[in-house]
Amino acid sequence: MCGIVGYAGNKSVESVLMVGLACLEYRGYDSAGIAVIDHDELEIRKEKGKIKALEALLREKPVRGNVGVGHTRWATHGEPSQINAHPHTNEKQTIAIVHNGIIENYMQLKMKLQSLGYIFLSNTDTEVISHLLSMELSAKKTVKEAFLSLFKTIQGKWAIAAVFEREPDKVYFAQDGAPLLIGKGKREYFLASDLSALVRNSTEVCYIKPKQWGYFSKEELVLFDFDGNDVVPEMKKQEAKWEDVDKGGFPHYMIKEIYEQAGIFRKIIDRRIKENGELDFSEMGLSKEILSKVNRIVIQAAGTSLHSGMIGKHYLEQFTKIQTDTEMSSEFRYRNPVVEGDTLIIAISQSGETADTLASIHEAKAKFLKVLSMVNNVNSTIARESDAFIDTCAGMEIGVASTKAFTAQVLHLLLFAMYFSTIKWMMSDELRKELIDEIKQLPTKIEYILNKAPEIEKWAQDFINTKDFVFLGRTYNHPIALEGALKLKEISYIHASGYAGGEFKHGPIALITSEVPVVCIANKSEIYPKMISNIQEIKARSGKIISIVTEGDVEAKSLSDYCFEVPACHEFLSPILNVIPLQLLSYYVAIARGCTPDQPRNLAKSVTVE
Ligand code: AGP
Repeated sequence: MCGIVGYAGNKSVESVLMVGLACLEYRGYDSAGIAVIDHDELEIRKEKGKIKALEALLREKPVRGNVGVGHTRWATHGEPSQINAHPHTNEKQTIAIVHNGIIENYMQLKMKLQSLGYIFLSNTDTEVISHLLSMELSAKKTVKEAFLSLFKTIQGKWAIAAVFEREPDKVYFAQDGAPLLIGKGKREYFLASDLSALVRNSTEVCYIKPKQWGYFSKEELVLFDFDGNDVVPEMKKQEAKWEDVDKGGFPHYMIKEIYEQAGIFRKIIDRRIKENGELDFSEMGLSKEILSKVNRIVIQAAGTSLHSGMIGKHYLEQFTKIQTDTEMSSEFRYRNPVVEGDTLIIAISQSGETADTLASIHEAKAKFLKVLSMVNNVNSTIARESDAFIDTCAGMEIGVASTKAFTAQVLHLLLFAMYFSTIKWMMSDELRKELIDEIKQLPTKIEYILNKAPEIEKWAQDFINTKDFVFLGRTYNHPIALEGALKLKEISYIHASGYAGGEFKHGPIALITSEVPVVCIANKSEIYPKMISNIQEIKARSGKIISIVTEGDVEAKSLSDYCFEVPACHEFLSPILNVIPLQLLSYYVAIARGCTPDQPRNLAKSVTVE
């Protein structure tokens, strides 16, 4: 995914756009650029690399003006380069376009335009937009007519912003499946791909919906639908705070968000657990009557969200006795799944914009299934296109590696399963009360773990040159083994694999040498002896053991090369506590290896392309 920004007002558009791009850089950072109307002339500045490369270019060649658009890129079509960086223009450089998403039919459009003599400079899909608009305008159409024709021509999921030399006081915009927001300030308007770039400057926000487009100047915001009909902009009060998007003194968003987890759990507990112990899911639009008719659940998600879904499967089957399956969104959408009308689809997504998860929702709705999404952005496309949604309340997550959103997802899946159990299967009062009491202790236990972070920071130095890591866990903690492996590989670039402990001797144990650290999640529980067997088998093959154990466990500790103790808790809650040392391990190993945890190579925060 990419980040796009726009501005029309009285401030220096260069500085407004650059501040906005810095907020959106987590969305993509292989090149960046801006287009500005400078004394009625369209000026373009763009550069390969992160935003600081563009800043250096602007110091050499500044631009003036009060209207413009900007872009930070995660390459889909065309390698990261200056020429493929956005904005893209028409030949006369009187139109500039920035784009997030994909134009699926760009190749045939490009060939048609080239046959008409249009010269393409880049190998991006985006450039077809600037030439199509140029072609319409040269046929004496108005800008509005040119856009209405464009919407009938391009296919895919996209959001765009544009400036035209012929209308120097306006920024045009449109979206069909990728997020776009317009923020209102004092005699100024801002455009951004997400809220993080509007937090400091907008008092109200308009979430542009699919098939809406329009323009703004410093004085007004005008909105249409793709048929050209007027649409009244729906302005919402902008409530996010700057500290939500600021690093707050931490060196990286990722470590800030790891440390936010205790406070976020307190907020979730306050919101979801009433005084009398009842659970509050008042924002969810699924009635108890609808839930009572559910006889099967399919959880579909991607990456880290799939891992939380795998834990949710255990909770839902344990507390409601409903068969619950987990599916990778990218596979579920093509499987033509065998599902009946009484199947509930639960889509889990931090961003609410993951293309595969959204496509699987469309697949489910085509089969007339109810879709409940669990999202961290209630204004996202996935929330809008589901029958109901639950807000995971983790606050804006900017670090590319998901941490606080993951634990918030797991907690919400536990609470939702407990809520559901009051409808489908009576959970014993004593277990319900025990879990509620234990959940209320989680924030303190999380803080206890975070206070021991220096233990893990010290370990990190030993793994700077490690080539392979293995993670093992069972039942509720098998997904934590997968999550620990994903965290490590996505921000430190060390190859890491997670396995169910019971699967280890069916092949993966062949990987073990003295050079391969194995993280064993071995809390005191029914399967503890089995994890001790795993540890013994690994030691017998001179493997290096990193164990995550229940505080006070001397046996596992005596067998381990590295041992991290987490506070005792109910087995159901252990995944939430166990993942935190693994988040810290991945962060500190990445730092020790000189990696950039907030902007890992090749990644973007939300995969809005397929
Ligand atoms: C998380 O650390 C990863 N960056 C990635 O796997 C992510 O969880 C996945 O892309 C799903 O994103 P979503 O939750 O926004 O749908």
